[in-house]
Amino acid sequence: MSNSDRVVLALGGAGTLGSGIVKALLDKGFKVAVISRDSIRLERLQSFVSPNTKNNLTTIVGNVGLEEGAEQAKQALLKAVGKVTDIVSSLGFSWCQGGPPYTQTLKDLQWVIETLLFSTFVSWKAFFPLVRDGSDCTYTFITGGAGVKLLMPGTGFLTVGAASTLAFCQVLQDEYPEVPCKLNQTTPGLATPERIVPGYLNHLDLGQGVAALVERRATSHAVLMVNCPADLKSALLERSL
Ligand SMILES: NC(=O)c1ccc[n+]([C@@H]2O[C@H](COP(=O)([O-])OP(=O)(O)OC[C@H]3O[C@@H](n4cnc5c(N)ncnc54)[C@H](OP(=O)(O)O)[C@@H]3O)[C@@H](O)[C@H]2O)c1
Repeated sequence: MSNSDRVVLALGGAGTLGSGIVKALLDKGFKVAVISRDSIRLERLQSFVSPNTKNNLTTIVGNVGLEEGAEQAKQALLKAVGKVTDIVSSLGFSWCQGGPPYTQTLKDLQWVIETLLFSTFVSWKAFFPLVRDGSDCTYTFITGGAGVKLLMPGTGFLTVGAASTLAFCQVLQDEYPEVPCKLNQTTPGLATPERIVPGYLNHLDLGQGVAALVERRATSHAVLMVNCPADLKSALLERSL
């Protein structure tokens, strides 16, 4: 199947990481569909991608973090694009530094878990059946280094949320060892677009790496750690991405 026959659903595709991934996938000739709760973010995405690829981008307004919303979005998606061959999931938020745990509320923690873990679970449950049984299909989770350790003081809830998503993705890989769909997880360490400095990876670099991973379909059940441009370069050369 050529890239132009493949349709990638980018969950979180209107976000920072997602937009880099969407752009890179479109540049490789894939068709891409993005669901976001925010039509303005979707419009921004339309103007961010390479102009000659815009026709291959389908955008849908929806909330994939709610069971009913995810089902509605799935129906709208299938009506618009017919099929999905690949899924990349980068749901959540960029950064959260609300302070040490004692200064935070239960509501703060609920928001973190809802946005990172619940949205990843609910959307996976709705969309995984579309690709599960295809050996040509892929499902790639983008998690984050914040799940492994406290990145800096005051980011504890980010760590709790990212760690729970990381664990969930690991559980899926362990619970579905034989699934035909290539089920991978990439854990990037990234600089935000406004803080890009040499030595740090940005969302455009990561997008190219993820697009290569989806295109090659060479690996499954892998956890790929990519922390800097050198990691990305060697992963691409070793074809582990
Ligand atoms: N930014 C970094 O430096 C970095 C580094 C490593 C890992 N990560 C991880 O990568 C993930 C994405 O980060 P980001 O920087 O791209 O965040 P972001 O810019 O806030 O984008 C997150 C996306 O998730 C979407 N989303 C969340 N809940 C949703 C829901 N219920 N329904 C539909 N869409 C929903 C948002 O959609 P809406 O458009 O609807 O708001 C948004 O497009 C996070 O898990 C983060 O921990 C980020």
